[in-house]
Amino acid sequence: MTQTEATTIFEEEILNGLKARNKFLSSKYFYDARGDELFQQIMKLDEYYLTRKEHEIFTTHKEAILQSIYDGETFRIIELGAGDGSKTKILLKHFLKQGIDFTYTPVDISGNVLEILETNLKAEMPDLKMESFQGDYFDALAQISTNPEKDVVFFLGSTIGNFTEEEAIGFMSKLRGFLKPSDMLFLGVDLKKDPSIILNAYNDHEGVTKEFNLNLLDRINDELEANFERDQFQHYPYYNPHTGECRSYLISKVEQEVVVAGEKIHFRAWEAIFMEISKKYDAVQLEELAEKSGFKPLNGFHDQESWFADILWEKEK
Ligand code: AVI
Repeated sequence: MTQTEATTIFEEEILNGLKARNKFLSSKYFYDARGDELFQQIMKLDEYYLTRKEHEIFTTHKEAILQSIYDGETFRIIELGAGDGSKTKILLKHFLKQGIDFTYTPVDISGNVLEILETNLKAEMPDLKMESFQGDYFDALAQISTNPEKDVVFFLGSTIGNFTEEEAIGFMSKLRGFLKPSDMLFLGVDLKKDPSIILNAYNDHEGVTKEFNLNLLDRINDELEANFERDQFQHYPYYNPHTGECRSYLISKVEQEVVVAGEKIHFRAWEAIFMEISKKYDAVQLEELAEKSGFKPLNGFHDQESWFADILWEKEK
């Protein structure tokens, strides 16, 4: 995709969301340079337990995870959305230390992210066999999935939670289409727990998550000649313990008109823009997700408090 095509899609999707009856923006657009920085800050917040918990799971269960994946044959780890690899490297280091023969293939849309990751991992693990791939997840899978070795696809950090249930089933089913019969999926999911713990993770007292949401308005201002005034919007996260969905909104505090790419967008007072879903699962919902998307659950690893899980699924034959 060229830069112009990407800009056109961005404009179309933003306007489409802002003109909808229930306004929405896609959280996939949170991650510009400033958004990446803010997400790094979020991961270090006391209230944002997710990253720490997954770190704990890998540190505690690295050998059990290896035993569940490894059958004596060489394999490949394909990590979708590899980021800075800080958690994955706990497993990579352990696997190498055990003398396991495997290749690590991180996939990321950002070439810059991959370059940094490659430099860091090569420095720390000179023996690591690494073949990174820049691009869209499914483009990458289409090009690399003809490998004869077993593939284990890593999709960590509760990124699956940023999909609605329907989107998650669609994503997993599509992913399954690229896998061979013995291939596996290693999925990081955030679990249902005390609702106040969940809500606090998306409503931190320093306001970094609020900033993370408002940053998309700044991005639209910069890239689509818009005139959002961030002070006119309130950050409002809301957790539904029934569905496990934590949804974030930006709510217009006043009636106002905003111009975006030459189009006038009207806001009634207290009208909301739905910004992001961060879904939490329980055991029943996870089983349903596996079944509906054609996977067979094999094993699951939890932190001590069972706040987070990394689960291993196999392609259902
Ligand atoms: C990337 N994703 C899993 C994060 C989450 O928890 O939904 C993004 C995030 N949004 C607000 N805080 C963190």
